[in-house]
Amino acid sequence: MRILVTGGAGFVGSNLALALADESHDVTVLDDFSAGNFVNLVKFKGDVIGANCHTEPTGPFDIIFHQASITDTTVTDQHRMMVNNVEGFRQVLSWAAAWKARVVWASSAAVYGNMAPPMTETSTPHPLNVYGYSKMVMEHVARLWHKQTGLPCVGLRYFNVYGPGEQHKGKFASMIFQLAQQMKAGHRPRIFRDGTQKRDFVWIDDVVQANLKAAEISSGEVFNVGSGMAESFNAVVAALNVVMHTNYEPEFIDNPYHFFQNHTEANLERSMRVLGYAPRAGLMEGVREYYGSGSL
Ligand SMILES: NC(=O)c1ccc[n+]([C@@H]2O[C@H](COP(=O)([O-])OP(=O)(O)OC[C@H]3O[C@@H](n4cnc5c(N)ncnc54)[C@H](O)[C@@H]3O)[C@@H](O)[C@H]2O)c1
Repeated sequence: MRILVTGGAGFVGSNLALALADESHDVTVLDDFSAGNFVNLVKFKGDVIGANCHTEPTGPFDIIFHQASITDTTVTDQHRMMVNNVEGFRQVLSWAAAWKARVVWASSAAVYGNMAPPMTETSTPHPLNVYGYSKMVMEHVARLWHKQTGLPCVGLRYFNVYGPGEQHKGKFASMIFQLAQQMKAGHRPRIFRDGTQKRDFVWIDDVVQANLKAAEISSGEVFNVGSGMAESFNAVVAALNVVMHTNYEPEFIDNPYHFFQNHTEANLERSMRVLGYAPRAGLMEGVREYYGSGSL
């Protein structure tokens, strides 16, 4: 298969590109390197196009995994967010239509906002920031495109992804990564009062798995991609203490954000039934594997 991975220098995209190359596919990465990290692609032997989603690569490709996006959720420049995320996606879809390629693309649990958990695909989205809004609009665009072209276009609503390759994301890296760095530096992990906020943390290999499964179905739907379990920030510190053989108590700080998801938790019923998605790692397994990889 000839496969295009947009955003392939980023966290999820690079893990996906490497996994696909391992399966002997002919993989091309397209990334404008606005946020990704070349270090993620040092072991990648396929083609890398340093351009944005408004520049058409030489096709055709059989599958496009579209991961490119502004992922800084605090960007408030609506014009920038919409042009990059929505119009960039529309451009990618126009190539897919010409190539008759199937599309698997990254939406986000940010479309849910503060909806009561567990979050289910059939409920009405309620994004709290323009990042989540751009993903919601992309879902509308994808649905219409699928209806018009009849081509598969599967959206994946990732929850909080963690794993090797997220270092460049700084304060947008997972809490697991950020808290581990503080503890490794000998500091108490700083978390928002009182550490009981919960996240559905999903291990990167499970996200790669969901993408591979999504490339096998002919649907225009969206699917949750999480672990199906909500874990508190206190539980993250506890898991890190276990693998790092430390005994840090969290230091609680006030939460400065107005827009904050207090509890995310994916309902995986549809993903398991339709995609055949089955997450393998809970928090403890994922944190153990992450730490063992030397990337945490
Ligand atoms: N990591 C998570 O927890 C998470 C959660 C929900 C959704 N997502 C979505 O998953 C996808 C991948 O996220 P990530 O965590 O790997 O983020 P990332 O920032 O590491 O990767 C995004 C990549 O896209 C590139 N990019 C941005 N705009 C581009 C454009 N117009 N053209 C070409 N390249 C462009 C960046 O340079 C970067 O390499 C994104 O669509 C993101 O919204 C991620």
